[in-house]
Amino acid sequence: MKFSQSLKIGNVLVKNRLFLSPMVDVTDLAFRLLCRKQGAGMAYTEMIYIDAILHENSKTKSLMKTCKEDKPLGLQVTGNSIEEFKKFAKLDLLHGYGLIDINCGCPSIRITGNQAGSYLLKSPEKIGEMIKTLKDRDLTVTAKIRLGFNKNNSLEVVKEIEKAGADLITVHTRLANQGASVPADGKWISKIKDRIGIPLIANGDIFSGKDVEKYLDLCDGVMIARGAIGNPFIFRGIERYFKTGSEKEIGKGEKISAFRDYLKLAEKHEVVDLGRVKHLGGSFLKGFDGAAKIRQKLMQKKNFEDILEFIESFK
Ligand SMILES: Cc1cc2nc3c(=O)[nH]c(=O)nc-3n(C[C@H](O)[C@H](O)[C@H](O)COP(=O)(O)O)c2cc1C
Repeated sequence: MKFSQSLKIGNVLVKNRLFLSPMVDVTDLAFRLLCRKQGAGMAYTEMIYIDAILHENSKTKSLMKTCKEDKPLGLQVTGNSIEEFKKFAKLDLLHGYGLIDINCGCPSIRITGNQAGSYLLKSPEKIGEMIKTLKDRDLTVTAKIRLGFNKNNSLEVVKEIEKAGADLITVHTRLANQGASVPADGKWISKIKDRIGIPLIANGDIFSGKDVEKYLDLCDGVMIARGAIGNPFIFRGIERYFKTGSEKEIGKGEKISAFRDYLKLAEKHEVVDLGRVKHLGGSFLKGFDGAAKIRQKLMQKKNFEDILEFIESFK
């Protein structure tokens, strides 16, 4: 399959097969817009606990911010209670997002301790109930899973998800108890694809055009997380790989200008606090001589103007 082929997820049309992963503290509105400009076809908010959405706290509202250029967008949520999902499903604001993605993969103890995230993989029928609750409200619904909590039950889980009416599944091919040092087990993608009729997106250790090429023969698209941190250019690079067979090195000038764009978007959309802007922006400077020192100085900046002035000085 071609990476540039469009994909229909329920009512949502995605222009290509390159998805930006949901990432806590990374995929804010400004960062998503930057990745879209570089060629990402689909993006998500970071994972938000539905309990926080129901209580409308102000940080949550800012994480949920979007705009007309930020489409198609998935609102990624997690939770543990069907009752809460029922209340959540009634919120009108959900129709402002292309789709709702249920996170069944987060391994953080803060989340699994509440029986949400990857803990849900222990009870596939509960994931099914959550999906049905949202489908009953005519929403496009997807799920992002790992292969299992501490044992691989992915074939059972994906069947349950499909049966419940989900429109797409993304699989991060690790167990919840496996960290990034354990390689993603991509061979499960074809096993899972054989089991289901709905679109399947592969996730885990995809960093290059070559990686993407491998998966596009096996499933319907790829999702990229760490490869995009500090490097929204990865999407453009992949596009270039498919056109020319190689990915271009990104120069310092381009990195600085992406940082500047990120800063301006963050300021314009008032989506994030300064600490986050500095942290995420600092990741654009990876590979610069003395990057650690530069980041240290960056952390001392007190406002957007100071940061802008600081990065302009690298030109
Ligand atoms: C900083 C960070 C934050 C993440 N936050 C989320 C999240 O909010 N929701 C989610 O489904 N996965 C989250 N993940 C997992 C990624 O989406 C992805 O599944 C995982 O990193 C594997 O993909 P990769 O090999 O391309 O990094 C996060 C990963 C990172 C590195």
